[in-house]
Amino acid sequence: MIFEVDSVEYRYEDAAALDGISLNICAGESVVLLGANGSGKSTLLKMLDGLIFPTGGSIKAFGAGLSDEALKDEGFSQSFRRRVGFVFQNSDAQLFSATVWDEIAFGPLHLGLPPEEVEKRTGDTLHILGLEHLRERPPYHLSGGEKKKVALASVLAIGPEVLLFDEPTAGLDPKTESFLIRLILQLTTAGKTIVTATQDLRLAAEIADRVIVLGEDHRLAGEGEAAVILGDRELLLTANLIHDHPHRHGGIEHYHPHSHLKDHHGRD
Ligand SMILES: Nc1ncnc2c1ncn2[C@@H]1O[C@H](COP(=O)(O)OP(=O)(O)OP(=O)(O)O)[C@@H](O)[C@H]1O
Ligand SMILES: [Mg+2]
Repeated sequence: MIFEVDSVEYRYEDAAALDGISLNICAGESVVLLGANGSGKSTLLKMLDGLIFPTGGSIKAFGAGLSDEALKDEGFSQSFRRRVGFVFQNSDAQLFSATVWDEIAFGPLHLGLPPEEVEKRTGDTLHILGLEHLRERPPYHLSGGEKKKVALASVLAIGPEVLLFDEPTAGLDPKTESFLIRLILQLTTAGKTIVTATQDLRLAAEIADRVIVLGEDHRLAGEGEAAVILGDRELLLTANLIHDHPHRHGGIEHYHPHSHLKDHHGRD
């Protein structure tokens, strides 16, 4: 088992974010975490990455307790950081280097790899993500989508076995989005464990083996095989992942449940 989340609660100073969440993430699966704005997806991913810790309940990673205390142990912390990579929702919070090259080389360098290997990994990752033309640019000058790709590259260069993606397709153009979806599928085929937080039902349908739904009350609203959960209109309506909104048909405006999965991308 990669993660065991047991009755977890999280409260920020002035807001509840997670309430009684229990779930497991198994090795090699691609799990999508769905939930409306503010339901707690990013909070949960930060917790899986050991950046924040439950205010109630507990989390295990790779069979060991994941706590502030545990991560103070340098051996545990190093091995955990090597095994788990996190691509933030907000790339600005992730990027800090002077150039794109340095940003991507940072992880491999800190793994203690020999210089030739650092060079090779950084070059290969730049190539795979089509970022060669940006290699000398400062990350903070890039566009939102370019930043996202650099953040992704900096995590992939470490080669973690578990990848946490927070809204990975937000702000990407269609070509880059479909590239990313293919990349996620390839990573899954390569045996990586992937947890992706999103509100994009189409992305979920493309990449998820299993879907976990967080409700606006910060509790677990549903969990199961992707096809079953994504076909459960009642659940998706309750969790505010699909919505009623007005449509004009022949000049008559009316409301009906509306799914971004089918309606925005298919018929209608
Ligand atoms: N740093 C913070 N301080 C205080 N409250 C916070 C903080 N970060 C998040 N929250 C609150 O915690 C709740 C969960 O937020 P979180 O960012 O985890 O939601 P989310 O599901 O990722 O939403 P989104 O889809 O908008 O990214 C929200 O009510 C939010 O207002
Ligand atoms: Mg979020």
